[in-house]
Amino acid sequence: MVNKNIFNLKGKKSLITGGGGLLGPEHAIALANQGSEVFLIDIDKQGLDKGSERVKKANKSAKVETFHIDLKDESELKSLKNFLINKNVHIDILVNNAAINPKMDASNNSSGKVEDYKLDNLREEIEVGLIGTFLCSKIFGSAMAKKKSGVIINIASDLAILAPDQRVYSKNNNINTVKNFKPIGYPMVKSGMLGLNRYLATYWAHRGIRVNCLVPGSVKNKQTKKLIKEIESRIPLSRLAKKEDYHGSIVFLASDASAYMTGQILVVDGGRSIW
Ligand SMILES: NC(=O)c1ccc[n+]([C@@H]2O[C@H](COP(=O)([O-])OP(=O)(O)OC[C@H]3O[C@@H](n4cnc5c(N)ncnc54)[C@H](O)[C@@H]3O)[C@@H](O)[C@H]2O)c1
Repeated sequence: MVNKNIFNLKGKKSLITGGGGLLGPEHAIALANQGSEVFLIDIDKQGLDKGSERVKKANKSAKVETFHIDLKDESELKSLKNFLINKNVHIDILVNNAAINPKMDASNNSSGKVEDYKLDNLREEIEVGLIGTFLCSKIFGSAMAKKKSGVIINIASDLAILAPDQRVYSKNNNINTVKNFKPIGYPMVKSGMLGLNRYLATYWAHRGIRVNCLVPGSVKNKQTKKLIKEIESRIPLSRLAKKEDYHGSIVFLASDASAYMTGQILVVDGGRSIW
């Protein structure tokens, strides 16, 4: 029988980490638009409130709940899982989206230089982006494996498959004049996610879980005009992503539309990585 509603997510429950940031609420909107209930978690309480409002504004019938949680804390994540299970909520879709994502806008005055890079910063980035992804997968993926169904979506970055072109942060397209480098922790974390993605996909495939990775390109947010121009010139589609540009990919990866796909990376970057 052909399924005519391959994108339908009615009755599904989705957990999105980093639900208080820029893209987390967008993933939630995309999933809610297909009928999924959404649960947002974040360490930023205010961000969570705003994220939840954004989802409800975009979809009046969306069912949204928020949880103020530090992804670095395994016991908080376990308590959340137990709390949800006690309410008979089984997470069907986990979106590992939280990361420490250094914004390269005017507010950023860190040098990002390898020579000055503080180990504490690197450890924090790895703890949140990579170990946090592992912990959520361990805790919610194990529950999925018991029920023999589930989907995990890991949100990486084009910097998982490309080195940053640091010249975009210079005045004159010259690496010698760069003052703020995109820091090394970010591509380290994002590249690590690709290994985690492949491992978990094969580890849990026979338990009915699919694990895939979205590789998004830069989203237009508060970057300076100069930086936007530099990045655009490196993208075949000649623009940065709009924050809603990943809705389709998230629904595709979460739904039966991608039923025969696991362990893969879906690159949605305006073509940047083919140039
Ligand atoms: N925005 C972009 O241009 C872009 C491009 C490619 C990939 N991505 C990826 O997409 C994802 C979302 O990006 P974004 O732009 O929304 O980032 P963001 O910084 O706006 O959101 C990340 C969220 O993670 C949360 N977080 C950080 N530490 C946490 C912790 N210990 N526990 C719980 N939550 C924590 C933050 O509070 C924040 O709300 C990230 O993984 C990022 O790497 C973003």
